[in-house]
Amino acid sequence: MHTIALAMIGGLVGHAAAETIHGALVFSRHGDRTTKHYKAQALTSLGAEQVFQVGSDYRARYLASGSPHQIKNISEFQYQSSQIYASAPDQGILLSTATAFLQGLYPPLGDIKPSAASTTLANGSTVSAPLTGYQYVTLHGVNDDSPETVWIKGDDNCPVLTSASADFTASAEYQSKLASTADFYRSLQPALADVADYASGGDSALSYANAYDIFDLINVARIHDNTSAAATHVTDAQMVQLRTLADSAEFGLNFNASQPQRSIHAQTFAGAVWARLNQTVSSATRDPKLTLLAGSYDTFLAFFGWANLTAVSADFTGLPDYASTMAFELFTAGEEFSKDDLRVRFLFRNGTEGKLTAFPLFGSGKADLSWDEFTSAVQDRAIMSVDGWCDACQSEAAFCSTFKLSAAENEAEERRKGSIAAIVIACVSLAGNLALLCLFVRKALRTRAERQRVGVLAAKDVDSVRSYEKESV
Ligand SMILES: *[C@@H]1O[C@H](CO)[C@@H](O)[C@H](O)[C@H]1NC(C)=O
Ligand SMILES: *[C@@H]1O[C@H](CO)[C@@H](O)[C@H](O)[C@H]1NC(C)=O
Ligand SMILES: *[C@@H]1O[C@H](CO)[C@@H](O)[C@H](O)[C@H]1NC(C)=O
Ligand SMILES: *[C@@H]1O[C@H](CO)[C@@H](O)[C@H](O)[C@H]1NC(C)=O
Ligand SMILES: *[C@@H]1O[C@H](CO)[C@@H](O)[C@H](O)[C@H]1NC(C)=O
Ligand SMILES: *[C@@H]1O[C@H](CO)[C@@H](O)[C@H](O)[C@H]1NC(C)=O
Ligand SMILES: *[C@@H]1O[C@H](CO)[C@@H](O)[C@H](O)[C@H]1NC(C)=O
Repeated sequence: MHTIALAMIGGLVGHAAAETIHGALVFSRHGDRTTKHYKAQALTSLGAEQVFQVGSDYRARYLASGSPHQIKNISEFQYQSSQIYASAPDQGILLSTATAFLQGLYPPLGDIKPSAASTTLANGSTVSAPLTGYQYVTLHGVNDDSPETVWIKGDDNCPVLTSASADFTASAEYQSKLASTADFYRSLQPALADVADYASGGDSALSYANAYDIFDLINVARIHDNTSAAATHVTDAQMVQLRTLADSAEFGLNFNASQPQRSIHAQTFAGAVWARLNQTVSSATRDPKLTLLAGSYDTFLAFFGWANLTAVSADFTGLPDYASTMAFELFTAGEEFSKDDLRVRFLFRNGTEGKLTAFPLFGSGKADLSWDEFTSAVQDRAIMSVDGWCDACQSEAAFCSTFKLSAAENEAEERRKGSIAAIVIACVSLAGNLALLCLFVRKALRTRAERQRVGVLAAKDVDSVRSYEKESV
């Protein structure tokens, strides 16, 4: 493993590097929660504390004066709406996660800058803000029937991805694990005797087919209830095996190098990262300076595979711990902002204990990339528009049918044009009769493109866009 570790002491604050950070984007997993098995999972007190701690650590890195990584000209104590953009899917656990992170990022003014927590009125009396100056950082919730949903939850309502992901269960790797672990899972029956779905033991439910669900039930029990069967019947060694099996199952469902459709959510996530950073780069005031997104482990795993991080370290095939974060930093070696000197660095922190560490993206072997290199790598392989997602997913989400697919900027359209252009170039280089044949091919391609467009528009009638929903947080 050739990790490019930056020198870090304690949490996220490292040694001085003569560089200037102009903006950053952080993507966070939720903290400890109730089990997914019974649905309606919620952040626990422990989980809120974990994410709050992580938010505080990013405060120490990006906001605190004296930090060598302080974002240039960011407001250290008092939240300024233009500087921060925060968003999470409209799911209680992810909204709570983003909220707890932001509470750590901008704590109550009474605690960090008391003078700003109260004001003196015209008549001379002093008024204090509620909750010792609690700061209300705006958080944008994204509904799952809004087009914005594709950026953080590009795996929901995406039939092409769902079907590519299901192909995993047909793979030799899956089948062999299913067979070789059958006895192991059967042996866990006493641990799950009080869980209806697994109580009968002998049936196929208690198997690798439900590797994550079983791991999650037992993991949550071991953290929260030391009297439960799940906690008392499972040894530490069995727990390691349960986790490792869940790792392989979830990674398999989210990434396969020869099937890019399995990672469509990584492609939209990367598109969103680029678009958010581009806003900072393009803005005269470098706003937003810090973007926070909250999302699921499946986006992490898909991105790890898609961005060639698993080739750097096999650890990236493992589930990220609760409250794990990925960060993308925009920086220059000198103090002044210059697009030509601008670089992008990727960092990952595993849970609350890990250190924030830089890793090379896209198999580059480099600790950071120039903005142009990053841009072209992302634009080559990511999905940069909602239409592009609708097209890649063949999604029946209501918003896909309302998109004006005739818009020429449509990414899929660009690709089709690319292939048509390639054929046209080939045609030009050929002579006489052959060229006529090429014209015919070109016309056929156009007709196919139009047919696909009509197909997507016909999806308007679908009344439920939630049917494909896959809650994997
Ligand atoms: C710093 O940010 C403030 C507003 O947030 C802006 O008015 C000011 O011009 C910025 N200063 C520099 C040096 O960019
Ligand atoms: C000053 O003004 C505020 C708001 O109008 C009011 O609540 C307060 O009682 C006033 N104080 C005095 C001393 O008049
Ligand atoms: C990966 O995809 C290829 C091609 O679709 C398939 O043959 C292979 O079984 C898949 N492997 C896994 C582990 O899903
Ligand atoms: C089990 O949990 C209780 C609190 O719910 C605690 O008092 C007790 O020490 C724990 N037992 C063990 C063995 O950790
Ligand atoms: C980059 O951001 C700027 C400012 O928001 C915007 O005008 C421009 O269209 C963006 N570029 C792309 C390719 O989206
Ligand atoms: C994060 O930690 C878990 C164990 O807690 C491990 O399985 C996984 O591989 C780690 N991920 C990375 C990228 O280090
Ligand atoms: C990165 O991974 C992709 C598959 O996701 C692969 O096609 C590509 O060759 C890899 N690139 C490098 C430089 O390792």
